[in-house]
Amino acid sequence: MSGDTSSGSKKTSGARGRFSGGIGYVLAVAGSAVGLGNIWRFPYLAAKYGGGIFLLVYLILMLTFGYVLIVSETALGRMTRKSPVGAFHAFGKSLPFQFGGWINAVVPMLISPYYCVIGGWVLKYLVEYVKGSAQILAADGYFTDFIADSGSVELWFVIFSLLVFFVILAGVKQGVERVSKVMMPALVLLAVFVAVYSVTRPGALKGVKYFLVPNFEDFSWMTVVAAMGQMFYSLSIAMGILYTYGSYMGKDVDIEKSTKQVELFDTGIALLAGMMIIPAVFAFSGGDMETLQAGPSLAFITLPKIFASMGVGTVIGIAFFLMFFFAALTSAISLVETSVSSFEDELHWSRPRCCLLMGIIMVVVGSASALGYGVLDHVKLFGMAFLDFFDFLTNSVMMPLAALATCFLILRVAGLKGIAEEVERSSTFRRKKMYNVFLKYFAPVCIGIILISSIANVLGIISM
Ligand code: PFF
Repeated sequence: MSGDTSSGSKKTSGARGRFSGGIGYVLAVAGSAVGLGNIWRFPYLAAKYGGGIFLLVYLILMLTFGYVLIVSETALGRMTRKSPVGAFHAFGKSLPFQFGGWINAVVPMLISPYYCVIGGWVLKYLVEYVKGSAQILAADGYFTDFIADSGSVELWFVIFSLLVFFVILAGVKQGVERVSKVMMPALVLLAVFVAVYSVTRPGALKGVKYFLVPNFEDFSWMTVVAAMGQMFYSLSIAMGILYTYGSYMGKDVDIEKSTKQVELFDTGIALLAGMMIIPAVFAFSGGDMETLQAGPSLAFITLPKIFASMGVGTVIGIAFFLMFFFAALTSAISLVETSVSSFEDELHWSRPRCCLLMGIIMVVVGSASALGYGVLDHVKLFGMAFLDFFDFLTNSVMMPLAALATCFLILRVAGLKGIAEEVERSSTFRRKKMYNVFLKYFAPVCIGIILISSIANVLGIISM
């Protein structure tokens, strides 16, 4: 879900807009952070990469790297009052600065298209629930057949994308976001209810154990690579968003406190989604490896099975997918809006022209992702379908590069001292020591190792 700020409207209106205060900032960032990443992506990665061990690695990364990077991007945004390309330019115009700014800005442009493909899946399920197809959706093989039906997937992708552009161009973003402010707490309540139902099914406790208790035998490098990519994705790190949000933040807002609140909120919802979905895999499919490894399809296979077994599956299905749809819609709006405003700022084109350019990128990249499990099934990029490839490219390659660029900017130019001064404008820098050590030593080295190993893995040089 996105918050009530976006780069576009406020940035072009002369004086830069401001959040109403700490709460305004936290709500906006948490709004952007909570989306498909929490409900769709987190549970399937946790199921695939070892359950408890993935969770443990994720939590450690979130509390260390995640924290350091959120503070960094927010502080740089607030210091320069610019979104990423401008923020990097504020320190220099040579090639590394151009690269650093643009790599941050390009990530949302590549995520938006496939994000809208998944948004289309959510919308399709919502409509099917409204039509009363709860039992059909729960049937084995339904989802696989659906994504293989290219015409249908493309259609729902286009409808979802048109909704996103409609909201952006018609200027009804505020309205959508107001609705989702009600939907969000309702989604949390319903998710708690479904999670309780899910973990109390016979056989589900094994799933709770799998999800929560780390088993070190399940550890592999890929666990770390996947957890780090997910952390970037879920917290909206390394995609320029936090620079932009930081640029709207008042100088009196406590950066560390709001970072903690955002992390708590975002992780809480991911955990809840995991508790809904993973135990249900054990209760309804006996925890078989094939379902656990289902990848992007997991939520779409498992949730309908839970709802169908509830007796009131249609009602719960409609309610859940409606809220899920709003979470996806508002996040997609903020991704597309961010991309459009980067074009506006850097190309100095009119807003409709920038929307058109983004529309073309969406159609090309999105259609490849939409058709990748159907008519384009035979085309694989490094062994991956298009959607999986774009997901991998952005999360495991470009975002680490974007994060490295941020570390570079701080270590070489802006200075740890500069960041500390920015944070200390509003409060004492409580985790300054940890911040400095992490940013200086751990972050660049670990991101570098992960980046190299994930590329080597894909190229088949090493197997992880
Ligand atoms: N963090 C969002 C999610 O987990 O779904 C994805 C996202 C949404 C990233 C909006 C960036 C953004 F502007």
